[in-house]
Amino acid sequence: MSYENITYAVDGGVARITVNRPDKMNALNHQTITELGQAFDAAKADDAVRALILTGSGPKAFVAGADITELLAQAGNAKGASDLAAFGQEVFRKLEHMGKPSIAMVNGFALGGGCELALSCTLRTASTNAKLGLPETSLGIIPGYGGSQRLARIAGPGVAREWILTGDMFSAEEAHRVGVVNRLFSPEELEEGTQKMLKSMLAKGPIALRFGMELVLRGWDMDQTAGEALETEYFGKAAETEDMKEGMSAFVEKRRADFQGK
Ligand code: COA
Repeated sequence: MSYENITYAVDGGVARITVNRPDKMNALNHQTITELGQAFDAAKADDAVRALILTGSGPKAFVAGADITELLAQAGNAKGASDLAAFGQEVFRKLEHMGKPSIAMVNGFALGGGCELALSCTLRTASTNAKLGLPETSLGIIPGYGGSQRLARIAGPGVAREWILTGDMFSAEEAHRVGVVNRLFSPEELEEGTQKMLKSMLAKGPIALRFGMELVLRGWDMDQTAGEALETEYFGKAAETEDMKEGMSAFVEKRRADFQGK
């Protein structure tokens, strides 16, 4: 598969997807979102891919939002704009529900659709010079790629209201403080810190990782009792895996576990 607006490379079990329109601050036009969807399908289908990193090319931006020039063309067209939002949501949901952990490595501006893309990843790292926010209300619109829902679930409705209603840009430190960013690094240490975080996850049982992600994701839409029932079910399923035997034996034998994802 060849891509115009992103790059896709697999190395050491990790698919690295880079949004590559640096002259447009990596803004997400329709073509870019289409390519992201294709890359997510490829990563999901490839057994060699165990995790993903998403980032933006160039020194300034992760992704500075949906492409405003394309959005402008939808002014006055409710159906076209809704379809655009639904398409972006469908693509971002592929990432969120892939069953493989993804990290948004936020290396600069992550605004609007870019912030929403980061929120669709399992986890987020950021450099101290990054800026995040949902400035859509400044443009007379609202987040359309799931941001209003995911931000409220990740950081709470108070933070979601603040970010959406003020449209402000927030420092990476503030995003870290409210739980949007999981780990913060200096610009020089962002790559290494993100890789280290990934490595620590890749050393764990792959089935356990998938179950852990699914539980949190599915639990979002459940009450606590139903969520705990699901946890009980998955706990039982995990006990049937060879990975459980390997993980526990390795602990007792004082060696590193060699998980096979079975
Ligand atoms: N859509 C389309 N083009 C965008 C864009 C977006 N979301 N964000 C940046 N660009 C383009 C600019 O138009 C400019 O293109 P040009 O050189 O052809 O004029 C180029 O990227 C560089 O951006 P510029 O604004 O000159 O850089 P800056 O360093 O002064 O500012 C930002 C950077 C991110 C603060 C600023 O570009 C910005 O506010 N972007 C829009 C953010 C936004 O509202 N996103 C939500 C969209 S729903």
